[in-house]
Amino acid sequence: MPIDRPSRVRDLFGQAGYTIDGVRDLLGPVAGAALARDEIVPAQRVTRGGTPLETLLQLFWLQVPVPGDALDFADLLALGLAERDGGEVRARLHVEPVEGTDGYVVSDLKARPGGVHLSPDHVVGQGGASANLAQLVVHRPVDNLLDLGTGSGVQAVHLSGRARRITATDLSPRALELARLSFALSGIEAELLAGDLFAPVDGREFDLIVSNPPFVISPERRFGYRESGLSGDDLCRRLVREAPRHLAEDGWCQLLANWLHVDGEDWRERVAGWVEGVDGWVGQRDVQDPAEYAELWLRDSCEVGGPEYTARYDAWLEYFERRKVTGIGFGWISLHRSGTDDVRVEELRHAVDQPVGAYVDNLLRGRPDVTPADTLRTAEGVVQEQTGPPGAEDPERIVLRQTYGLRRAAQVGTVAAALAGACDGDLPLGPLLAAIAELTGTDPGDVRDQALAVLPDLIADGFFDIIG
Ligand SMILES: C[S@@+](CC[C@H](N)C(=O)[O-])C[C@H]1O[C@@H](n2cnc3c(N)ncnc32)[C@H](O)[C@@H]1O
Repeated sequence: MPIDRPSRVRDLFGQAGYTIDGVRDLLGPVAGAALARDEIVPAQRVTRGGTPLETLLQLFWLQVPVPGDALDFADLLALGLAERDGGEVRARLHVEPVEGTDGYVVSDLKARPGGVHLSPDHVVGQGGASANLAQLVVHRPVDNLLDLGTGSGVQAVHLSGRARRITATDLSPRALELARLSFALSGIEAELLAGDLFAPVDGREFDLIVSNPPFVISPERRFGYRESGLSGDDLCRRLVREAPRHLAEDGWCQLLANWLHVDGEDWRERVAGWVEGVDGWVGQRDVQDPAEYAELWLRDSCEVGGPEYTARYDAWLEYFERRKVTGIGFGWISLHRSGTDDVRVEELRHAVDQPVGAYVDNLLRGRPDVTPADTLRTAEGVVQEQTGPPGAEDPERIVLRQTYGLRRAAQVGTVAAALAGACDGDLPLGPLLAAIAELTGTDPGDVRDQALAVLPDLIADGFFDIIG
């Protein structure tokens, strides 16, 4: 019987306590935060005891050589995860536990300033973006999952408990090789396919498609994990355009994306125009100006202060200038095949409740028709804020704000504000609107028209629920 090295490595990790909690407890908040900033000295100080967990942390996270007899390294060496160097062992790859699962992912060693350099086929490990996507993904069991651009396989590992069948694709053979290792270490079965975007799954449909694609918009394709070589934001546009053909009925496609803000063009229309034949929900989480953007990605590839830094920075700015780019949006795109084809694009640059995936399928409600016969209830957790000059009888501005979920805010008039105070699910709108007209001395027809004009959006945004 062949030796099952991946499961032996899993046992080794389990016995060492090499889990997310184990790593967090050992590092503590200071060394953990420093490591997230690529500073290893504090972590070095708390991992000197020689325990198996400390050894694994030094090996895979600090990427420093460890004594050759500190652990039984045989399986790590045989799988190519580490190598002997004289009397010491050093990591060849980065192996890390995955939050919320029993799985592990394998990626290339982390590039750090002054340390390992990125190669064009670098396979990136877990980071802010991958965690962000994992939190966005809808919480429902699915029959079949496609992880497009799987890289280390992290999204598939995250979703392995929820998907009966997993297909993971990547353009990079090296990424597929490491994803295969990740799946073996995690005890996951997955179909691995090589190819560009949806080409490897031509003619197939999925219940869930997730992708953290190489969305970085840059003058040239230097690193395949982040840059596609397509012009501007064409990669994300193509993904959004092509995904619906691969979505089963009631299926979801969720991805991270970057898009251009071009002078004289509405970014919302640009992105909304990508979505065809499905419901779409786009949330812009951040916008950077061209200089911030170039700096971010030059920092990501540890090139700050390097010999080509200035030339690359300049070329990046030139690229944006030629395209009249004023900013670059970062955000989420969710597509849902539900048959209604509503598209919603919104600004979400504030903190939202995570994981969004726990409630995302409630966010794509369409704008309902509302009549005075409907009974509404103000959604739980909606608060009202009023601002205006001190002592003024009437506020200048009234805002309804959600204290949960996406924490949306809506500026409203006095009628909608009064309804938010009155809608408790008892009376239909008709009598409530009549009472508001009487109390405010306003024409009942005007009150009704105002209410019916704004309620569909407020209901679609989750400020009110129709309960009858
Ligand atoms: C940012 S990494 C994402 C890795 C991983 N899924 C995650 O969430 O961390 C993007 C991945 O897409 C792959 N990729 C790049 N261009 C591609 C293309 N045209 N088709 C499919 N995959 C591609 C890269 O090789 C890389 O593994």
